[in-house]
Order: sequence, then C-alpha cells, then structure tokens
Amino acid sequence: MSTPRPAPKPDKSDSATIAAVLRSAAARLSELNDTARLDTEILLALALNRDRSHLRAWPERELLPEEQERFRDLIEQRRSGTPIAYLSGEKEFWSRAFKVRPDVLIPRPETELLIELALAFIPATQMADILDLGTGSGAIAVTVAAERPLARITATDLSTGALEVAQENAGLHGVRNIRFQLGDWFNAVQDDERFDLIVSNPPYVADDDPHLSQGDVRFEPALALKGGIHGLDAFRIIAREARDYLKPHGRLMLEHGFDQAKSLADLLTEFGYTDISHHLDLQGYARVTTARSGKRV
Ligand SMILES: C[S@@+](CC[C@H](N)C(=O)[O-])C[C@H]1O[C@@H](n2cnc3c(N)ncnc32)[C@H](O)[C@@H]1O
Repeated sequence: MSTPRPAPKPDKSDSATIAAVLRSAAARLSELNDTARLDTEILLALALNRDRSHLRAWPERELLPEEQERFRDLIEQRRSGTPIAYLSGEKEFWSRAFKVRPDVLIPRPETELLIELALAFIPATQMADILDLGTGSGAIAVTVAAERPLARITATDLSTGALEVAQENAGLHGVRNIRFQLGDWFNAVQDDERFDLIVSNPPYVADDDPHLSQGDVRFEPALALKGGIHGLDAFRIIAREARDYLKPHGRLMLEHGFDQAKSLADLLTEFGYTDISHHLDLQGYARVTTARSGKRV
C-alpha cells in the first residue's frame, strides 16, 4: 500500500487574492480601453480603502466578501463607462488632488497651460485682481490662488453644484483668497469691478460633435461642454463683455479647442483686442489664446 499523496495546493488563480482579482478584472476592462490595468488598480485600492502600493506589497492577501462586493460594483460601473475620476471622487491637477463629482468637468492636463500663462503674467510679489469664469471644480481658481497668495480671485459658475465643489476644493487646499459667485458669465460680478486678468475655460464643444457621445465625456455635464452650433457661443459673450471688466493693461486668457484658434482670433479682433497670441500644448496645438484689453467698438 502506498502512502497517501498530500492534497493538491489550491489553485490561486480562482481565489480572491489581490493578484487574482486584479488579473481577472483587468481582463474584463481591457475590452473597453487601454488603461485597464491602471484603472483596475485604482478601483481595487478604492474598494480596499488603501493606496496602490498596498496591492504590490500584499498580492497574496485574500479579499473579504464585502471588499469583493465593493470591487465588483466599481468594476461594473467602470464597464458601463463611468469615468475613474467620478468613481474615485478626485483628479490630480497641477500636483494637487481636486474633488470631482458629476456636477463638474474633470480637470484636464491641457488646462495647465492656462495656469502657466496666468502665473507668468501675475508675479508672485504683486497684488492682482483675477476673474475665473466658469470655475467648475475650481481647478484654475484654486491653483492660481494657492500659487499667488497675494492675488484676489473671483470664481464664478452658473451651476450651484459646481460652485459647491469648487468651495470644497478651496477648503481642501487651504486657500482663502477666492470669492465664489453664482451667475451667468459677467452677471456674477458687479458692474464696477475691474480685473488685471480674466481667465476662462468655457464650454467650447460644438453641439453636434460626435465626441459628446463617446467615452468619459458622456458622463460630464452638458453645461460644461456644449458651446453652441460651432462651439463659439461662450467665447463671443466673454470676448464682448470682458472689455468692460479689464483694467487698461489687463489680459484675457481663454482655453479653446485645437481647431478654434483662428475663429477666436477673428472674434477678439472684431471686439478690438490687441496683442492676440496663441499658445501651444505639448502636442503642438494652439489651445490657449491671450489678448490685451480691447476697447469698445
Ligand atoms: C469646460 S468647464 C471648465 C471648468 C473648470 N474651469 C476647468 O477648467 O476644469 C466650463 C464651466 O463653465 C460653466 N458655465 C457654463 N455656462 C456658464 C455660464 N453661462 N455662466 C457661467 N458659467 C458657465 C460650467 O458650469 C462649467 O463649470
């Protein structure tokens, strides 16, 4: 009679270890996009309430049933398209974490170009009045406020939900030099206010742009995206009105779509702006246009 063989080791590939669930969830998400592995790690870290380094340190750790449930739910939401930033509730911008909810546009890396230009225009040692129109999460206003503590910033939006998020972000980053105002573009500020700098990343996607029904953008607020038939409606209002609110040496800085620089320059010229310059992103597209205060024509 031979001695009994030891029981075979359990196949870890079917178990609910960190390594195993990461592998199978990443395979499910890879049908949708090419950031599946990263997305999966972020969502698992979220389900476990740990950071991603925990996943690498403890690949053999078994998930508790409630952790598995939370993770499955997050993966299903991601599979139906919900952006990672809305699931995690935050997005990094200019090396700071910003809270985001479906009330606000998810801050984009392109917008950091607008920050660079604003900071180059406003020296750290100077007091300045700055207006951020359509502040959303507050990414622009909070970043400039933190980097230029002497500046007085006014941040506006037409969405109460967005202003709440922006105020939370100001609190999170400990900035006190921002005033938040609700209203339709310049209706949010007093007629006699004047600014050294007016910045905006307004909605500028054409209403019938097919990208609006693709990817993460589907989940972002239409108010933050849609800019009329040609995507230029907000630019027309802002360019026309900003002339009354800029100090004589003041600058207007606008983020826009990669193919809108010429149309925007025409608008700014029509309204009497001078020193119109386009600024390129890392891909070489003009994404921000700056101009010097125009006079009423
Ligand atoms: C493209 S998002 C930009 C958000 C944020 N500034 C950023 O760069 O991430 C445009 C913002 O403009 C706001 N908005 C749209 N129409 C507006 C209006 N008529 N008056 C004021 N804000 C408006 C939207 O609610 C949204 O927060």
